Amino acid sequence: MSRPQRRNILITGASSGLGAGMAREFAARGRNLALAARRVDRLDALRSELLAEHPHITVAVRALDVDRHDDVFTVFRELDEELGGLDRVIVNAGLGKGQPLGTGYFRANAQTAQTNFLGALAQSEAALELMRPRNAGHVVLISSMSALRGMPRNMTTYGASKAGVAALGEGMRSDLAGTGIDVSTIFPGYIRSEINEKVKKVPFIVDTETGCRALAAAIEKEPAKAYVPGWPWIPLAYAMKVLPLSVVRRMS
Ligand SMILES: NC(=O)c1ccc[n+]([C@@H]2O[C@H](COP(=O)([O-])OP(=O)(O)OC[C@H]3O[C@@H](n4cnc5c(N)ncnc54)[C@H](OP(=O)(O)O)[C@@H]3O)[C@@H](O)[C@H]2O)c1
Repeated sequence: MSRPQRRNILITGASSGLGAGMAREFAARGRNLALAARRVDRLDALRSELLAEHPHITVAVRALDVDRHDDVFTVFRELDEELGGLDRVIVNAGLGKGQPLGTGYFRANAQTAQTNFLGALAQSEAALELMRPRNAGHVVLISSMSALRGMPRNMTTYGASKAGVAALGEGMRSDLAGTGIDVSTIFPGYIRSEINEKVKKVPFIVDTETGCRALAAAIEKEPAKAYVPGWPWIPLAYAMKVLPLSVVRRMS
């Protein structure tokens, strides 16, 4: 069965990195965009850039902190109305502030868990409230390769929050099986963005444009799961799932 084209796409965390990069990719494909993040000046600048290059699309922007859950529902409803119905919601807003557990950084770890997991839950709820009555739509959850196994050091809480996102995605997919609503969980490998700009040596990292091109292509296929970019992350995903933790620890 051919898939409906997703014309109206909401992306959270669109003020930088992967969110902004995916916005550029989907704008180039002629899609209308709803862009949300806290730094609305960045969203306005991105909107101007996209409309200059693609004058036929619509780009709506809203300030949104996904930790303010009531605002998530309000903003999603407003953007849905402004674009005439959201066909795809990309749950992308996230951060990577964690520190090793037990070293005095509970607040940073709690903030990472709050934004990455509870924020994704609020966004998924808000998206499905719009999509269930229409029995149509595509929810995309941006997880991470670090969700596949327990991660050491600064990545422990981040990886756990992204494992939660992946479990949420699979559960939603199971719950919505046989309906007109699709759910995809995307596991990005390392893609250069603000989240890792201070980290010098990052294995297999690709630049933002290359990474976002691969992300948009993967999302368009609407898979249950995708490891992106496929090389080397598909074989690495397989390896990470079967290797002993002592080996996985050295890979991360
Ligand atoms: N880059 C990678 O290698 C990589 C790998 C795997 C997964 N990911 C995931 O990809 C997603 C995008 O990250 P990125 O790499 O593009 O990093 P980034 O450049 O730091 O972008 C993060 C985005 O999330 C937004 N955000 C953070 N906290 C928010 C909040 N409370 N409310 C609303 N928006 C919030 C930020 O916008 P404001 O600050 O303007 O609100 C920003 O637009 C994240 O979920 C990240 O975990 C990235």
